[in-house]
Amino acid sequence: MKSSPQPHTLERREHIVSNQPKRPLTGGDEPVCNFSNNPLFADILNSRLQRRQVLRGGIAAAVATLFSRDRITQRLASPAVAASSPLLGFNPIPVSTADTIVVPEGYSAQVLIPWGEPIAGSYPSYRLDNSGAEQGMQIGQHHDGMHFFPIEGQSPDRGSSTEGLLVVNHEYVEPRYLHAAAVGQALDSEGFPLKSDGKRDADQVLKEMNGHGVSIVRVANQNGRWSVVRDARNRRITALTPMELQGPVRGSDWVKTQYSPDGTRTRGTINNCAHGVTPWNTYLTAEENWAGYFRNGDANPPREHSRYGVSKEASRYGWDLADNGADEYIRFDASTKAASPTQDYRNEPNTFGWIVEIDPFNPDSVPQKRTALGRFAHEGVIFQPAVEGRPIVCYSGDDARFEYVYKYVSAQPYSRATAGGHLLDNGTLYVARFKDDGTGEWLPLVFGRNGLTPENGFRSQADVLVNTRSAADFVGATKMDRPEWGAVDSSTGTVYFTLTNNTRRTAEQTDAPNPRPSNQWGHIIRWNEMGDPTAQTFQWELFVLAGSESDSRKLNGKGLSADNIFACPDGLWCDAGGRLWIQTDISESEMNKGDYAQFGNNQMLAADPKTGEIRRFLTGPIGQEITGVVSTPDRRTLFINVQHPGATVTEQDFAAGRLNSRWPDQNQQIYPRSATVVITKNDGGVIGS
Ligand code: FEO
Ligand code: CA
Ligand code: CA
Ligand code: CA
Repeated sequence: MKSSPQPHTLERREHIVSNQPKRPLTGGDEPVCNFSNNPLFADILNSRLQRRQVLRGGIAAAVATLFSRDRITQRLASPAVAASSPLLGFNPIPVSTADTIVVPEGYSAQVLIPWGEPIAGSYPSYRLDNSGAEQGMQIGQHHDGMHFFPIEGQSPDRGSSTEGLLVVNHEYVEPRYLHAAAVGQALDSEGFPLKSDGKRDADQVLKEMNGHGVSIVRVANQNGRWSVVRDARNRRITALTPMELQGPVRGSDWVKTQYSPDGTRTRGTINNCAHGVTPWNTYLTAEENWAGYFRNGDANPPREHSRYGVSKEASRYGWDLADNGADEYIRFDASTKAASPTQDYRNEPNTFGWIVEIDPFNPDSVPQKRTALGRFAHEGVIFQPAVEGRPIVCYSGDDARFEYVYKYVSAQPYSRATAGGHLLDNGTLYVARFKDDGTGEWLPLVFGRNGLTPENGFRSQADVLVNTRSAADFVGATKMDRPEWGAVDSSTGTVYFTLTNNTRRTAEQTDAPNPRPSNQWGHIIRWNEMGDPTAQTFQWELFVLAGSESDSRKLNGKGLSADNIFACPDGLWCDAGGRLWIQTDISESEMNKGDYAQFGNNQMLAADPKTGEIRRFLTGPIGQEITGVVSTPDRRTLFINVQHPGATVTEQDFAAGRLNSRWPDQNQQIYPRSATVVITKNDGGVIGS
């Protein structure tokens, strides 16, 4: 695999096929919704549309009956009537195990910005042996959350549909592909090349750190083809980019380091999973599985490390082992090494685990870590529509088994004229308690309230935020089955969250919001706030239990079918037309094996939130997950990401050169590469219609 790759182009349409329909569009067998199964939730939606206060006496008790597990059994047995959703105008496609993207008949797909595509600086071409510095001028690896900012930049949902800044997260890196030239060196436990002295080559470390972070790249549609446009705003933000800490943790003892003795700055963002878009048109990137990037060999690490899983042994990539011993690398060893916290990096992990704000339109802007939104394995962040004169409200999930769902409400009201990042620095962070009766409450994580006091080990609001998980434990939040992406239906205010799976939940640990023991398929929950989005209480229900035809449940009580079986929902987005897009992430270790084989490669589906109808819209190549979804404002171009194609190859097959995916290049001398895929409808119509 050391030979030079062939030159490639962005044009890879030949590897993408449209699927022939299995049955006609009309007269399909999708059941109509039977609203009698969930009348009260529908009433709530209608009430919200009319901007009326919703919950009145007696409804909560009725909802309790509706959403109890007994009721779920009844709904499974209820009859359904056939009809078709006005929102879903495409024919569902079958599951796939092919090494390609498949979209419905009448749609086309184009690959854009694969890993290594040059976007900035000297625009170095992709080669297997690109240096660390060159990677810093190219698209990173492992594309994830993403947003399209129309080039004029007036607002997140208005402006050009043919030219914009595409902003893409890069979650992690694949050493076997990143260091092709180094294959043959000894590998550490994560498969990373180690030198004979146990150190890491510093340029390999640099390449890994520059493969992380966020890409900002101008893209344009010219004559129906999307391509990169050279622009001064094109930018890579990486695991090395200087950043500021804002909010209550800024300047506190928890974040003082040798690099920033006053606790106001740090370097880089890592494991950027999903994202958010603020009402003032900036990008938020979420730091998810950051803890593994550090080690702390101290005998008794603090809870702000141990509760998040910082290892006592080795860091995930061994960046702290870089052979040049540079400060920006050794900081990933958080062991106590000096007399004072400002002389070592014992606090470095506390500068990660945050939501980070980036202004994509200002290439000189310093990313801001917004500590008021809490510190955990942030999957992403989603906003309720901003209302003039009212606080802003957003939600974030903590993706780990038995972790929580959070909501943030700003202290200051939103004003279009003055809105900005300061609204994310001063507010109340809440954590969700889902009750079995179909209601829920938001528990404030505020120093001095709910027992978050010095007697119970919390010294300040900065302490509560650095130790968000411990604070949420203390107040009695509901332990969920791995909260991943959320979505807000802007027309109703309904909030959706994917709960991807949790095979560790025992029968004794099941509850109404997490009803399955050993939950291998995952589910999607939704709720409406009781009143406006700042409300302290909400009403929830399960939108769909994912899984096989015999072990799943749609909103109408029936199981999924061949047209829509899926497992491990992860990415989620509600478009402006009201379609709910669902993306799956069956893990590499399970994909196409055993019970999971029936779902084929990871996929994307579209759902009608009103009827609960779901149709499979796209299937991806081998070994990947589909993640990240956004459209242009006119909804006639959809962008999605393919992450880690070929990740299911075994060490033995990799060593023998037998890769199981060559997507998207289909070139035997190029590794599979994560990439964005652009989807259009051949008649120029709205995607999904
Ligand atoms: Fe990065 Fe929870 O997916
Ligand atoms: Ca994810
Ligand atoms: Ca994954
Ligand atoms: Ca996932």
